[in-house]
Order: sequence, then structure tokens, then C-alpha cells
Amino acid sequence: MNKFSRSPATTPAIAITPERSVDEITGSRRLRRMRKADWSRRLVQENHLTVDDLIWPLFLMEGSNAEEPISAMPGVARHTIDRAVRQAERAAKLGIPAIATFPRIEQSLRDETGSHALDADNLINRATRAIKQAVPEIGIITDVALDPFTSHGHDGILRDGEIINDETVSQVAAAAVEQAAAGADIIAPSDMMDGRIGAIRDALDRNGFQNVAIMSYATKFASAFYGPYREAIGTGSLLKGDKKTYYIDPANTDEALREAEQDLAEGADMLMVKPGLPYLDIARRLKDTFAVPTFAYQVSGEYAMIKAASANGWIDGEKAMFESLLAFKRAGCDGVLTYFALDVAEKL
Ligand code: PBG
Repeated sequence: MNKFSRSPATTPAIAITPERSVDEITGSRRLRRMRKADWSRRLVQENHLTVDDLIWPLFLMEGSNAEEPISAMPGVARHTIDRAVRQAERAAKLGIPAIATFPRIEQSLRDETGSHALDADNLINRATRAIKQAVPEIGIITDVALDPFTSHGHDGILRDGEIINDETVSQVAAAAVEQAAAGADIIAPSDMMDGRIGAIRDALDRNGFQNVAIMSYATKFASAFYGPYREAIGTGSLLKGDKKTYYIDPANTDEALREAEQDLAEGADMLMVKPGLPYLDIARRLKDTFAVPTFAYQVSGEYAMIKAASANGWIDGEKAMFESLLAFKRAGCDGVLTYFALDVAEKL
């Protein structure tokens, strides 16, 4: 008979009270000891969110001194360049290291190949120049996909129902050079064409932009969480079909690792995982495997979910915001692109 066996005579059919004391069960190891007070919780906190972790995405539009709210993203608006400059000033004052700009291009400037992406004076490049001049201390990250510029909303050149890889890569690389010439500090290609990182690196270097970095949207998934963003840049109603022939299948993780590995080999300085919260496993795998600067994009749909639940009184929006961002740190991210950035920075 060992010490765990019970005699049938004294044991009820369902035993409610443990026979052993909790100290015996835990061996006196009680994890609640360090959770008992605010000071002890702070003392053992493993991960922290600071303002240095934040990248703030900003939507741009034509015009002056105006902004337009985006209905599916309460609290987020598109800004004309002059207003975007003021937003960048606010962000810099709060210590946010960088902003990421996304243009809503006029429909009349969109075409089959997204040729306006190559215009040195397009909305995104004018905004970069204006922000660089007024707020030189903030980093500017520019997205270099063609989707804001195409009449069909795809990230690449579309011909006979196919997204043409290599032609898209040349165009994206040329657009990246224009963005760097306008003053972008980091080029962030989000189109997922094969070979784009190497082509962009070559094009930047050949044009004297050796110091412009590349943050690769290395693991970008064909996700349902981008909906509100497409409203924000006005591509939602244009998009025919889906992006499954170029974004990664949400079911895959080894493939994501291969993407990241290739992007690093081609010259990416940083990796990004997108969307964020549903893909924390990817962030952790990238960080553990490559040990390079790793970022996540808490995308528009993730923001919208927190805002909507909070507006209905179903969750505490502020707590959910902080918890979701801390989760990225726990998963190994060095920073997060988040529409909450200004809010968070103000509260930190
Ligand atoms: C596409 C692009 C997307 C986002 C930024 N650039 C995805 C898409 O529209 O397919 C999404 C950002 C977000 O949802 O917040 N190049």
C-alpha cells in the first residue's frame, strides 16, 4: 500500500477534500506568492511595453487641412499632407520612433499596372518630403506595394487573370527608389512577390541609398483581417478575387519560415509578421530561428474588433489594447505597427 491509496471504508465515491495538504501537493512551491501585490508583480514582470516599441500607421489623402474618418476604424482618419505633418509632430513629441504611411490614391490616377507608384511627386512621396522637413527626428517607413495605385486593388501587375511576378518586382524596386529619394528611412515591401527584397536592395544601392533599410513584410498571410484597411485606402470595392496566389496560406508555418529566410538572404534588415495577434506563433518562430529585429503588424481588422467590442461594452477596450500589445512583446517582437500607437503613447 502506498501513501496515495485509500481504504474503501473511509473514502466517499467522490472525494472533495484532498487528503494531502496543499503544501504537500506543491512541495511548498506557491506561484501566487509573487502575485500577491502590485509591487511584487511589477518586480517579476518579464515583458514590458514602452513607447519605443510603437510604429504608427498613418493614412494619407489629397487636399489641404482636412481629414476623413474611417468608419470601420473608430478613432482613425485619413489626413491631408499638412495634417499628417501635424500628426507626425504629435507622435515625435510622445517619443514614438517611427510612422508608416499609406496613401489613398485618387481613382483617376489608378491604372492596370499601378504606374503612378513611380511618380516622384505622388501622394506618398510628397508626404514623406513634408514630414521629413518638418519632423526630421521621426523615422518614416513607406509601404511599397502597388495596391493603392492599381485599378483592380491587387499588389501586382495583373494580366489575363495572373499577377505577373517579375515585372511587378521591377516596378516595386523602381518605386522604392523614388520613396528613398523622397526621404523614406525604411522601405517596407508588402506585395509578397518572389525576389522583391533582393531587387529592392540592388536598386537602392545602385542609386546611392545604402543607408535606407528594408523591413520585409516577410510573412504576410492571405487574411480576412485586412478589411477595414481596404476601406481606408479605397481598394475594398475594386478588389476582384483574393490574394491567395501571392500571400501565404494561413495554414502554413514552415513556408513562412522559408519566406523569412529568403528575405534575409536577399538583404532584409528586419522582418514583419502580418496580421499580428492570430500569428504570434510565427513571430516566436522567426525570433527563435533568426534572432533578427522582428515586428508584427496589428492590422486594421484586429483594431476594429477591439474597438467594436469595446464600443458595445463587451470588453474593456483600454485593457484589451494594452494586453494585446504586450502579447507581441511576449512572443518575441521588437515592436508593433499599431493604430493604437498614439493612444498608447499618451497613456504610457
Ligand atoms: C497591401 C497591404 C495590406 C495592408 C497594408 N498593405 C493588405 C491588403 O490590403 O491586402 C493591411 C493593413 C491593415 O489591414 O491594417 N499591400
